[in-house]
Amino acid sequence: MASNKCIIVVIALSYSLIASLSDNVEGTSRSPGEIAPSAFRLEDFCFHTEFPSECVSTTRPLITGHINAFTILEAGLKALAERTQKVTAEVEKLRKKDRKSEKSKELAVCIAYYNIVLNSIKRAEAAIPPKDFGNLEYELDYQVSSIRNCETLVAGSEFGRSNTQMDDLNLSLSMVAKNNLGIGNNLMNPERP
Ligand SMILES: *[C@@H]1O[C@H](CO)[C@@H](O)[C@H](O)[C@H]1NC(C)=O
Repeated sequence: MASNKCIIVVIALSYSLIASLSDNVEGTSRSPGEIAPSAFRLEDFCFHTEFPSECVSTTRPLITGHINAFTILEAGLKALAERTQKVTAEVEKLRKKDRKSEKSKELAVCIAYYNIVLNSIKRAEAAIPPKDFGNLEYELDYQVSSIRNCETLVAGSEFGRSNTQMDDLNLSLSMVAKNNLGIGNNLMNPERP
C-alpha cells in the first residue's frame, strides 16, 4: 500500500515537472529573444530621466532598430519635433482669435521659440551619428531653455494666469525636452545603464 502511494506521488511529481518544462519551452518559443529584454532595457534607460513613464510611452513607438541610448534619443527628438509642430498649430489658433491683443504678441514670441526648438532638433539629430557630444548637449539644453522662455513669458502675463491651456502645452513639450536631456547625459556618461 505504502509503495503504491509512493508511486502515485512520483507520477504526480513527474507530471508537474513535465508540465513546468513544457511551459518553459513554450515561453521561450513564444517570445523570440529580443522582445522581452529590449522592452526591459527601454525602461532601464528611461529610469534615469525626470519623467520615466512619459519617456517610455513617447519613445517606444518611434524607436527604429536596436534599443540603445542613441536610438532612444533619436526617438525622443522625433517626438519633440512632432509635439512642437502640434503645439505651434494650437498656439497659432489661439493667437488668431485675438490678433491685436497683448496675448497675441506673447504667443507670437512663443511661436518664434518653437521654431528655434525645431531648428535646434535638426542640429541635435545631425550631432548624433558623429558623436559630437559637445554640440549635442548644447542643443538639448537650448531646447529646454527655449521652451522655458515661452513658459516664463506666458506665466508672467495676465493671459497666462487666466488660461491653463498654455500650462498643458508647456508640460507636453518640456517633459519630452527634459527627458531628452536626461537621455543625452546618460549617453555621454555611460556608467549608467
Ligand atoms: C512647465 O513644465 C514643467 C515640466 O517640465 C513644469 O515643471 C513647470 O511647472 C511648467 N510650468 C507651468 C507654468 O505649468
